[in-house]
Amino acid sequence: MADPVVQARPVLQAKTVTAGYVPDLPILRDVTLDVRPNQVTLIIGPNGAGKSTLIKAIAGLLPVSNGEIVLDGRDITNIRTDQLKAQGIAYVPQTDNCFRSLTIRQNLDLALRQAGAEAAARLDQLFAQFPALAAKQRDKAGTLSGGQRQFLAIAMALASKPKLVLMDEPSAGLSPKAAQEVLEHARGLTARDVSILLVEQNVNQALRLADHCYILAEGRNQIDGPAADLRDNKIVGEIYLGKRREGTA
Ligand SMILES: Nc1ncnc2c1ncn2[C@@H]1O[C@H](COP(=O)(O)OP(=O)(O)OP(=O)(O)O)[C@@H](O)[C@H]1O
Ligand SMILES: [Mg+2]
Repeated sequence: MADPVVQARPVLQAKTVTAGYVPDLPILRDVTLDVRPNQVTLIIGPNGAGKSTLIKAIAGLLPVSNGEIVLDGRDITNIRTDQLKAQGIAYVPQTDNCFRSLTIRQNLDLALRQAGAEAAARLDQLFAQFPALAAKQRDKAGTLSGGQRQFLAIAMALASKPKLVLMDEPSAGLSPKAAQEVLEHARGLTARDVSILLVEQNVNQALRLADHCYILAEGRNQIDGPAADLRDNKIVGEIYLGKRREGTA
């Protein structure tokens, strides 16, 4: 009989990945990570830790010089970025993730341009999923609130029906309420057969809704574990979450 605690095969694996922006100057060193199906896998760590670099390395935006990126058991190391959507991966960058001078509808039409005959139906689905965007579809994206703009970026990512979404700090710069809404929406996607790899600075909020968490620092793996365990881990709290041990100054 199958062992009930054996976890489903990861959707995505980074295996001892070394990568950087210029040859011979690695930013990531031997970074290893699994994203399990229909889970939120969280990456946290200090500024400059290499979180965005890891997302970009997975998305083929910078060269992986050693190690492997594996999607559903297939090697996709150094994937061409124009192949990402076809492989079922969508990437929501940390900044500049929609065109502010275009309307919401135009942004979504651009995201749907490879959907062919399915485009109209998918647009309807996206508007049903994001009614606030439907209501403002003729407005320029630049007029949206920060939270609404993140929802637009997420909607654009979902246009290709990905199985894995890479999200780099979707709640950055948002009010606590908007940040919570964006993060809860990301969580909700896992019920629609989407797996999420999420980088966040809103660590406490993100740990509450993630399944598993990896801590990166100086381009290397530090600690990882179930998000609930890391939230309650005193040492993690002191080093990474800004909590102090009781009784210390
Ligand atoms: N385009 C680039 N060219 C060269 N080095 C870069 C580039 N982008 C980032 N770096 C360097 O890579 C290291 C990791 O940066 P990265 O952006 O991955 O950090 P991060 O963990 O995402 O930080 P933050 O929390 O500030 O977003 C830093 O030392 C940074 O200076
Ligand atoms: Mg970053």
